[in-house]
Amino acid sequence: MVAFKTLDQIAVAGKRVLLRVDLNVPMQNGEVSDNTRIDRLVPTISRLVKLGAKVVILSHFGRPKGKPVAEDSLKQLVAPLSKALGGKTIAFGSDCIGPAAEAVVAALKPGDIALLENLRFHPGEEANNPAFVAALAKLGDVYVNDAFSAAHRAHASTEGLAHVLPNAAGLLMQAELEALGAALDHPQRPVVAIVGGSKVSTKLDLLNSLVKKVDILVIGGAMANTLLLARGVAVGKSLVERDMLDTARTIQAAADAAGCEIVLPVDAVIAAKLAPGQETSVVAIDDVPAESLILDAGPKTVALVVDRLKRSKTLVWNGPVGAFEIPPFDAGTTGIAQEAASLVQSGKLLAVAGGGDTVSAMAHAGVLDKLSYVSTAGGAFLEWLEGRELPGVKALST
Ligand code: 3PG
Repeated sequence: MVAFKTLDQIAVAGKRVLLRVDLNVPMQNGEVSDNTRIDRLVPTISRLVKLGAKVVILSHFGRPKGKPVAEDSLKQLVAPLSKALGGKTIAFGSDCIGPAAEAVVAALKPGDIALLENLRFHPGEEANNPAFVAALAKLGDVYVNDAFSAAHRAHASTEGLAHVLPNAAGLLMQAELEALGAALDHPQRPVVAIVGGSKVSTKLDLLNSLVKKVDILVIGGAMANTLLLARGVAVGKSLVERDMLDTARTIQAAADAAGCEIVLPVDAVIAAKLAPGQETSVVAIDDVPAESLILDAGPKTVALVVDRLKRSKTLVWNGPVGAFEIPPFDAGTTGIAQEAASLVQSGKLLAVAGGGDTVSAMAHAGVLDKLSYVSTAGGAFLEWLEGRELPGVKALST
């Protein structure tokens, strides 16, 4: 793991702290639909307030492509953030650089908080432009990065600022790095990974990296169909990537060479289409009728995966093993998640999950607080799992 300074190792009292967070939260009808990312920022912000810092919060929101877009304004996050902080007043800067930002920051007293407008309203953010980095740096004395979920982006506020200001990781960044490090950098073996989702093609780098690092790789979701077909198993009308069959065989060969066991479904929940209220049945994996769709892992597959979890000391999980958004096709993911949680609770397994749909799948299974760690990062979690260096983390290295 990269060595970085923690909040305890930098002086912040009375200083202007540029705190990079990830307020890129899901919204529905103008309301935040999942508060997890906001709630997880509270420890760092509260600590900085308690230490008497002048907290200047920076974030992106959406992908406005370098110009102001009204619906991507961070103003809408002032109230939810204030609520999460127990009603604390948050000043808002209508720009993240220049006179508007400077005036808001100049008015802060120790323990006060300001949120500045969306960084991505300026092209310099994503370009990591030195002039834009300098304009941001002018607003602070210290830089704290608490945005692990944006650390795969080498942007001005995630990477550039670390080179020009004294810096440290925030408590959330620290927790993510420690949890993820324990799961893959120096794990207790055996290590099992579960990778689900719909396409092999989007997770090729991940699968190729994992077969070299883990002892058991469970592949679920529609991407398992492609591996099954590559083994000659007929998968009916299920989602499959026919152009990836050779790639699937290469992954299998790499796993064999590395001594990694690939676990594929042995049975499946099938239906005529992916919709609520469908008639379903459970069949052996080599018995899927030509007109059916595989939509979830069957009970024997769940039992097989649970057996592998019981033999392992560490689990890394990305992606559901079925179409969990539409019951009853959530049973496989939920069954495995609840068994993993009970192994964690009895101290037998360290389990880290994250990326894409995984947080909502774990929330749906009721295990968000029962696994060792659930990361709210999407792309950053995947890139970390692939073994790539995250620029936002690297830049913090001491
Ligand atoms: C995320 O939501 O995964 C992060 O905020 C990164 O967002 P981006 O993919 O737009 O860079």
